[in-house]
Amino acid sequence: MIQPKFNGDRVLLALGALITLTLSFANGFATLATELDRPMRCQLERTYRMVGYNCANLNLKEIPQTLKSNLQILDLSFNRIRDLNKQSFARYTDVKYLYLFENMIQNIEEDTFTELTGLEALDLSSNALKSVPVEIFRLPLLRNLYVSNNALHDLEEDLMLLDKPIRAPIQILNMADCWLTKLPNFGILPDLWQLNISSNPMTELTVEQFSPMCNLRSLDLNNTQIPICACQTMTTELTARRTKILNNHPHCTPLFASEQSICAQDVSPAPPNTDFQQCMDVRNSRILDTKAKTAWFKISLGVLTCIVVFSLILCYFHKRNVKSMKDNNNKPGKISVPIHRVMVPSGDELPIVENGNRDKLIHNCD
Ligand SMILES: *[C@@H]1O[C@H](CO)[C@@H](O)[C@H](O)[C@H]1NC(C)=O
Ligand SMILES: *[C@@H]1O[C@H](CO)[C@@H](O)[C@H](O)[C@H]1NC(C)=O
Repeated sequence: MIQPKFNGDRVLLALGALITLTLSFANGFATLATELDRPMRCQLERTYRMVGYNCANLNLKEIPQTLKSNLQILDLSFNRIRDLNKQSFARYTDVKYLYLFENMIQNIEEDTFTELTGLEALDLSSNALKSVPVEIFRLPLLRNLYVSNNALHDLEEDLMLLDKPIRAPIQILNMADCWLTKLPNFGILPDLWQLNISSNPMTELTVEQFSPMCNLRSLDLNNTQIPICACQTMTTELTARRTKILNNHPHCTPLFASEQSICAQDVSPAPPNTDFQQCMDVRNSRILDTKAKTAWFKISLGVLTCIVVFSLILCYFHKRNVKSMKDNNNKPGKISVPIHRVMVPSGDELPIVENGNRDKLIHNCD
């Protein structure tokens, strides 16, 4: 049996390790303690010259009411907020970007968002909502709306109360994972170009439901349960309208004639769709509007340029005239009227006249 040798170096090493360990533990506790001591506060951050607050992950249960009221960005994600009411954002009516994802929001009192007329982006994803407050769809500048991961069972019913077409110029709408079986009816959405309805049990989806979205460019259909034939018709129609379909089920794009023929009997000529036409009319009238504005701008610019050029020419000729007259007067030997000032014989008033009117005066003298 080998007797373990007493080794001073080893003991020292072990002792050193122990000390290091203790120190690092103490250190760890110290950091933890200061972090707990530090009052959890929203951080003021300036982004793109806007006043913003980062209040993410602070265990908040309510909306802080002590922030600068001119804030434009407010990030309240990853907190424990359950309810929102009319007072929640009453101080922050300048807010443009509002992030409320990953909370526990269940109840939103009516008119909570009504006064936020500058709101451009709202994220309510991953909460416990059953619907989306309809006033949101009346906000005049709201472009991006994210409501994914909420079980929006009551949305369809609530949308019936909404006046259509909606006022919000929504461009991006994310309703992924919202327990929807068909597309909610928002009326025409002429600005919408990106729609995400992935992970919804979409068993009743048809191409007609996309008619109010005449400008749709990107559609995420991942993990939706659209029946094959409905999906094929939709894919064909939407692709023809230049919509890019992401994560589509492979069966929805038939590669072989045999696959196509399965659904062939389903394909009937699509009835003329008023929603699509109405949506296109809005877009076309806007394009005309922009064109008219551009045309007026160009005409005004042209007229202005003409005026400026004309004035410059006049100015140039005037100067040249003045100069040539002076030159003429100074030329020796040339027979010219030697007087610069002419006494008008008859009148008492205006006796002195500058030589600019010389010719006329001479004529008068005759
Ligand atoms: C659609 O939404 C899901 C869930 O929010 C997300 O993972 C996915 O990336 C989105 N798709 C697109 C194209 O943004
Ligand atoms: C599609 O959805 C499934 C199920 O939610 C998910 O696992 C997968 O990552 C998604 N694919 C893409 C490309 O987003």
